[in-house]
Amino acid sequence: MSTKTEIEVEAPVAAGSGSERPPDPCSLVIFGASGDLTHRKLIPALYSLEYRGLLPENFAVVGVARTESSTEAWREKMREAVTEFGRDPMDKDVWERLASGMHYVTTDFSSEGGESDVMKLLERLDKERGTKGNRVYYLAVPPTAIRTVVDKIGERPRAKGWVRLIVEKPFGRDCASAKAMNEDIVTHFAENEIFRIDHYLGKETVQNVLAFRFANGIFEPIWNRRYIDNVQITVAESIGIEDRASFYESAGAVRDVVQNHLLQLLAITAMEPPADFEADAVRNEKVKVVRAIAPPDPAYVVRGQYGPGEIDGKKVPGYREEPGVAAESSTETYVALKVFVDNWRWAGTPFYLRTGKHLSSRSTTIVALFRPAPHPPFLEIAGEGLRPNVLVIHIQPNEGISIRIGAKVPGQGMTIQPVHLNFEYDRVFHVQLPEAYEKLILDAMLGDATLFTRIDEVEAQWAFVDSIVAQWKNAKPDFPNYAAGSKGPKSADALMARDNRVWCL
Ligand code: BG6
Repeated sequence: MSTKTEIEVEAPVAAGSGSERPPDPCSLVIFGASGDLTHRKLIPALYSLEYRGLLPENFAVVGVARTESSTEAWREKMREAVTEFGRDPMDKDVWERLASGMHYVTTDFSSEGGESDVMKLLERLDKERGTKGNRVYYLAVPPTAIRTVVDKIGERPRAKGWVRLIVEKPFGRDCASAKAMNEDIVTHFAENEIFRIDHYLGKETVQNVLAFRFANGIFEPIWNRRYIDNVQITVAESIGIEDRASFYESAGAVRDVVQNHLLQLLAITAMEPPADFEADAVRNEKVKVVRAIAPPDPAYVVRGQYGPGEIDGKKVPGYREEPGVAAESSTETYVALKVFVDNWRWAGTPFYLRTGKHLSSRSTTIVALFRPAPHPPFLEIAGEGLRPNVLVIHIQPNEGISIRIGAKVPGQGMTIQPVHLNFEYDRVFHVQLPEAYEKLILDAMLGDATLFTRIDEVEAQWAFVDSIVAQWKNAKPDFPNYAAGSKGPKSADALMARDNRVWCL
């Protein structure tokens, strides 16, 4: 076991609101308002923003979906959702303030004139709530429905205010469909009006990777191929596919998580320092990284699918037994791979990436393993032995950063043991971390696209994923190959063993 040492904090730190100016008055229209994302994430996020006084005073939310409901019934459902999924306690006054501006419209945008009730309501809200013609359209609908909605909104004459369009992931299902979808969107909206969301970029700990790298001078000189032996990025989930079989069957882990969350984590880990924190400066650097990722060697790509197993003491079915999943499904629920970022900073340093559903625990980490000290002059080694330095960025849970160093064990002789320097968010900041969607919805209202994905990056991400999917085209996988609740397929360990390495966590 290693000893934990805590880094001293210089002064008590306060939590910032993260926003320098309040957003303009506006209406937020959520398409897909009866869906999972709306009640689990979007409305709880809006409630937390209202709770902290971060929403504009003149504000309205319009929920749009085909599911029949009244505004009253929808508000009540959303109140329950906030109670269940929100991070803040239910406060009657806060809820009333938000709910009084919430409306629901049952409509099918694909039918003739399906948009007119929504448009009329928005005009009414401009007058009644002073939302000034400013609109945020949030497309929480499957990619297949996006085009219809975008065309219908885009073809209507614009109100006098600004427009922002938030598009949920996945943006397309390959490079060609992403390009086609984008071509359609840009006939109606300018690039600076389009906010392609990847909620990982809204996570505090993900943004802290940028702070860690670019607010601290000591890491930059060693953040490269000369000092880092390899990088391991993991997005492990203990949950399964929940009720999303129809989506997941056509996506799989590679489209659901590798294309977006994993590549975003890789991009911010490997990117060059931007000249400033303006949207384009940051995004220019990220896209360079994604473009520099070489298609992976097929021998270093592992896919898996969970079979029956046990999670938290409960038996769970295998993926193929989930409702809505084909009995012979070859959709992957796990991917591990080795990639290289072919540029001056990283040439030759492997980045190992992995993600999976129904694994033994939920854990998202970025681990940098440094090269060993060139000539340690010590004979006696204790504990885990003389080990290379390791930096672990815990994205979630147990958010924080730890660094493993070798330290002298007290006493005679020179015995070395690994210890950890730890920074834990909750012990330092004493605040609950905001949900990613709070940050991102607010940023979109403010027109700040820094943490949203530009189309060139989306295309580069898909080009990479397309190269993996092409490798799989004619090979029938031997699924299932890992038990739910395990650490994933054995072949993922074999992938590391081939390089004389192991997964660090
Ligand atoms: C979503 C994926 O984008 O991210 C889900 O579609 C996944 O399959 C989720 O479970 C993970 O997000 P988080 O924030 O829980 O790590």
